Amino acid sequence: MNRKKIVFANWKMNLDRVRISKFLEELLNLKFNSDKVDIVIAPPLVYLSDTLNKVSLSEVSVAAQNTFYEHNGPYTGEVSVDMLKDIGCTWVMIGHSERRQHLLETNEMINKKVLLATQNGLKVICCLGETYEERRQGKTFSKILDQLKRALREVDEKHLSNIVIGYEPIWVIGSGKAAELKDIKEAHGFISEELKNMYPKSKQLPRIVYGGSVDSNNIGEIINLNNVDGVLVGSASLDCEKFCDIVIKTEYSND
Ligand code: 13P
Repeated sequence: MNRKKIVFANWKMNLDRVRISKFLEELLNLKFNSDKVDIVIAPPLVYLSDTLNKVSLSEVSVAAQNTFYEHNGPYTGEVSVDMLKDIGCTWVMIGHSERRQHLLETNEMINKKVLLATQNGLKVICCLGETYEERRQGKTFSKILDQLKRALREVDEKHLSNIVIGYEPIWVIGSGKAAELKDIKEAHGFISEELKNMYPKSKQLPRIVYGGSVDSNNIGEIINLNNVDGVLVGSASLDCEKFCDIVIKTEYSND
């Protein structure tokens, strides 16, 4: 399927004000075709407003790395969908494996966040993926399917075009070596088929992006795989030159 590609930069808990300024200055000089590729930057929360201001006149979008599943209230340290919208943020990441692991986020919490974000007009990248142990035991597909179904439980079909599924096999994240191409292709094909099964009438199913040690060397092969609509970049997104290279190679990939 020919869909507009999308490249996410997930900065995780990295960079600082000075480095972000420099990065954005460089990124805003990049000539890219926004009809062919979307760029979404996810900075740490404290730099969200600053990043939004800096990219406001460009085609670059900004995502929060997380949100909470209530509108407001006694939830110390959390940030609501309403607050993100209030500062002009249009995207939010939900369910990253690092949050599932370190912050003990469950599929139920992730589902509540996806529902609240989509119902309130935010675009969502919802992440899922199997551990090494699950892959070794042949449980990859049952794990992915379980996460997918539970994340999207009761999500209205009309919101699907505002959702991106991020497939990130956990053990390759930050390892410097992406998953095998055949495994990426197989997982994306599987997710694509399952989305069709879940929403047989939908004409606009979520895009599916791959994450896990994507860099400027392997992007060319990954982005040309069937059902890979883009990438979610961690480490390589901290270096603007590498990130821009990934964006341009994505823009020029074969549809
Ligand atoms: P790396 O690109 O550093 O493997 O991180 C991937 C990731 O977790 C993006 O969300």
